[in-house]
Amino acid sequence: MKVLSVVGARPQLVKLAPIAAAFAGTEHEHVIVHTGQHYDADLSDVFFSGLGIPAPDVHLGIGSGSHGAQTGGVLAAMDPVLEAARPDWVLVYGDTNSTLAGALAAVKMHLPVAHLEAGLRSFNRRMPEEHNRILTDHAADLLLAPTSEAVRHLAGEGLADRTVLVGDVMVDVCLRIRDAVRGGGGEAPALPDGIDPAAPYLLATLHRPDNTDDPERLAALLDALAALPVPVALLAHPRLVARAEQHGITLSRGNVHAGRPLPYAGLVAAVLGAVGVVTDSGGLQKEAFLLERTCTTIRPETEWVETLTGDWNRLVPDPHLLSPADWARCATRPAPKNERGLPYGDGKAALRVAETLEQHLR
Ligand code: UD1
Repeated sequence: MKVLSVVGARPQLVKLAPIAAAFAGTEHEHVIVHTGQHYDADLSDVFFSGLGIPAPDVHLGIGSGSHGAQTGGVLAAMDPVLEAARPDWVLVYGDTNSTLAGALAAVKMHLPVAHLEAGLRSFNRRMPEEHNRILTDHAADLLLAPTSEAVRHLAGEGLADRTVLVGDVMVDVCLRIRDAVRGGGGEAPALPDGIDPAAPYLLATLHRPDNTDDPERLAALLDALAALPVPVALLAHPRLVARAEQHGITLSRGNVHAGRPLPYAGLVAAVLGAVGVVTDSGGLQKEAFLLERTCTTIRPETEWVETLTGDWNRLVPDPHLLSPADWARCATRPAPKNERGLPYGDGKAALRVAETLEQHLR
């Protein structure tokens, strides 16, 4: 079996790691195509080196641009790659523009498409990811769902007969790296200047267009973080840095200490060292849950609804709707003591993905 993975953005590289490992040492051929959607070393190269992912076989070098330019660029560039490789499966990951473009390119060439992390829904059509995931699910031949909630969404859209529950591959990689970090592997994370890793701190990220692109909202969110009672390590995504620069907004202020994104092991170590997480990232909500830290999500909804059980994750669409005291209590609340079960699977999802692709070969 020949499987061609299409990846391009940071969260896809994290998910690629366990998939590449599941194919390594088997008789299956695994081809990696990097679209180049993310190109900064912080968002791309460090994931290949840090997670032991083989270098991409093909790099499309698409880079940043409008949604149309980025999606269309990948779509056009995929044709000769797919023509040359003729894989048994094109495997696309998550919900970025690279995901949708990879799926469209494959279906137009009558190549079977499998969608990893299928069936997630925010029901928020302002999010580019929501269009990407719905369109990809409906284009794909095989829907690899991470949770039973995702299976329910797919069934509701008439896609049950293409759906297989495999679990979440993020668990595979997150728990492996957690164990390595706890075992003393790797260097201490490069936290932003001003953060003392031995003292309580919150870990924060912001990168959703709804939070970064309107200067008033961005400044108000930064002020809310700045007013929190413990130092906030803000790992600044290049989109956040670009928008802040564009609008003359300074990220570091009050208790906010801005720094660079971390490699994966650094991120896991930084979450483990934090009293809690404040974010608008989907992946980080789940990583906080898996690493037993509370999460406060700066969004009106989440695709990862399982994290909300037992108060592990709380949705705060706008911190300024809470009193300063309530906002501070919310962001710094201690980890609950309840049992969380295994809503994201047992950490063997990638092996199940490989088996499922083989069982469903055309
Ligand atoms: C993309 C995904 C989002 C995912 C996120 C993870 C889409 C629509 N969005 O958002 O779902 O959660 O990745 O990180 O696919 N930039 C750089 N260097 C880079 C990459 C980006 O400087 O290597 C800057 C550029 O200013 C660029 C901006 O970040 O215009 C946005 O990048 P883009 O890939 O369009 O979207 P993300 O916000 O990263």
